Amino acid sequence: MKVMIINGPNLNLLGKREPEVYGNTTFEEYFAQLQRNFPEIELSYFQSNVEGELIDKIQEVGFQYDGIVLNAAAYTHTSIGIGDAVKAVETPVVEVHISNTHQREDYRHISHIARAAKGVILGFGLRSYDLAIQSFVKSQ
Ligand code: DQA
Repeated sequence: MKVMIINGPNLNLLGKREPEVYGNTTFEEYFAQLQRNFPEIELSYFQSNVEGELIDKIQEVGFQYDGIVLNAAAYTHTSIGIGDAVKAVETPVVEVHISNTHQREDYRHISHIARAAKGVILGFGLRSYDLAIQSFVKSQ
């Protein structure tokens, strides 16, 4: 089983960015932990700060992989293009967020992705990614 994690803007700064919201762990450290947690899954990881690159990656893997875990970060709240890409592909997409966006500013309460996603997991810190991957394992 192949699962791709796609992270959007500013998530390359995890570990240093607003640690009170996003924690002290870098995504590279956490990704190594995920690979240990799911040895049976071929996990890959892509991050970009550029909206079009995220759309290109969703299109590239969205007809080949068994699952996509997508944290589109701030683009979640603004990008109709990423929402359309999620709708266009065959691979199920689980939307994740590290923070509970519903406890934050009003503009973070809107998601252009949720409507097309298989499910949404948010607010569990980096563990949100772990739970999203588990959802693919369980659905097999
Ligand atoms: C985020 C929440 C977004 O509102 C924010 O813009 C991010 C990260 C999260 O994982 O909690 O960059 O997607």
